[in-house]
Amino acid sequence: MPLDLDSNARHALAQTVIRQAGDLAVGYFAHLDTLVCETKQNGQDVASEADRAVEDLVRQAVCAAFPNDGFLGEEKGFATGTSGYVWIVDPIDGTSCFLHGLRDWCISLALVKDGSCELGMVCQPSTGEFFAAVAGQGAFLNGAPIGVDRAARIDAALLGMGANFRIPVVQVTAFVAELLGAGGMFIRSGSGALMLAHVACGRLAGYYEPHINVWDCMAGLLLIREAGGWTADYPGEEGWLDGGPVIACAPQLRDALTRLVERSLERAKTLGSDQGQARGDID
Ligand code: IPD
Ligand code: CA
Ligand code: CA
Ligand code: CA
Repeated sequence: MPLDLDSNARHALAQTVIRQAGDLAVGYFAHLDTLVCETKQNGQDVASEADRAVEDLVRQAVCAAFPNDGFLGEEKGFATGTSGYVWIVDPIDGTSCFLHGLRDWCISLALVKDGSCELGMVCQPSTGEFFAAVAGQGAFLNGAPIGVDRAARIDAALLGMGANFRIPVVQVTAFVAELLGAGGMFIRSGSGALMLAHVACGRLAGYYEPHINVWDCMAGLLLIREAGGWTADYPGEEGWLDGGPVIACAPQLRDALTRLVERSLERAKTLGSDQGQARGDID
């Protein structure tokens, strides 16, 4: 069934505003040398005026059209609403790539109604790729239907993997060890949202990140489910602000990937947490 984004005024706004957001980000990307940047909690947790301006653009457009909707954005936090709708936006996912002049960044937008995600969009302006899914209506790349990789096996799989300073180093190394031991392989681009979109269209067989925020993954998880993939439960409304692990893949890999994650958590426990977080141990 073709994606009918015009069927809902919010979906139409989302489609327009995400492209405007992309254009605005591209303008900043062309002038990285003059961009004002800020370090947040540490040197790997950064943001720039581009992240804030893009979030402002989306936030203002939503607020003008739907003032009673809630809005959660990475840079400016949560504003509650009364309509039952919540917009969840990462203005630039892959900020580190963006700031280093790499093209692996995107805008990620999800619309949640009464706790359940009904619209997910991931837009990568530098390649012109626009992923969209509406609950129950499938997933699309630039308007064409997409599906997860039905042929993938874990011993031939290329999985996306994410890591950040919030999780113990040992959890990452333990997962990599388990995956490589099973004959699989991983890549990490700087954008979790994009890697999830790549799972949805079958370029990657799956994705694992021990802890990821809701603005990074809400759109991508819907894309994968609508493309026929499997996603483990992610914290609902009560836990959104805390985030959680993301495990997602083509359906035939579900058991194998779940087992790898379980084994990696056991292995991490055995190795102990004395290996520290992903920052601050070497000064
Ligand atoms: C990050 C990216 C990265 C993921 C991190 C996220 P940001 O988001 O999605 O791939 O591993 O967990 O924080 O900071 O670039 O928006
Ligand atoms: Ca960030
Ligand atoms: Ca992000
Ligand atoms: Ca971001």
